[in-house]
Amino acid sequence: MDDLLHLARRMMLHAHAPYSKFHVGAALRAEGGSIHGGCNVENAAYPQGLCAEASAIAAMVAAGHKRILECVVIGPGPEVIMPCGGCRQKLREFASDDLPVHLCGPDGLHRTVTLGQLLPLSFGPHHIGKS
Ligand code: THU
Repeated sequence: MDDLLHLARRMMLHAHAPYSKFHVGAALRAEGGSIHGGCNVENAAYPQGLCAEASAIAAMVAAGHKRILECVVIGPGPEVIMPCGGCRQKLREFASDDLPVHLCGPDGLHRTVTLGQLLPLSFGPHHIGKS
């Protein structure tokens, strides 16, 4: 998890968040061991902004991976960051309920939860015959 936290911290520094000023970084470990990071990328047309988790997922998929084994999200604190609803569903596309999601602040790990805790009774690829 240290490598993921390190990458997520670096990603947070690259966030484009001039509107919210809330910088977020995310890092994912894909099946096979590679790691992929992302940051939030806001837009003057506010709804067009991209969350850090979504940007990390895009980087992972673009690198040719489809399975997430571990996830780190880091926010500015002091409250523990929580992935938004849309990002929970986006993670679900590439991970199962037991995915560990490490929620971090500038001082390090605050809490580890599973995707199943964040998104119980989820709708997933298997509901439409994909797995
Ligand atoms: N944000 C993320 O990047 N991930 C989350 O899970 C929660 C929110 C971003 C979106 C927006 O750029 C900023 O945080 C404030 O909402």
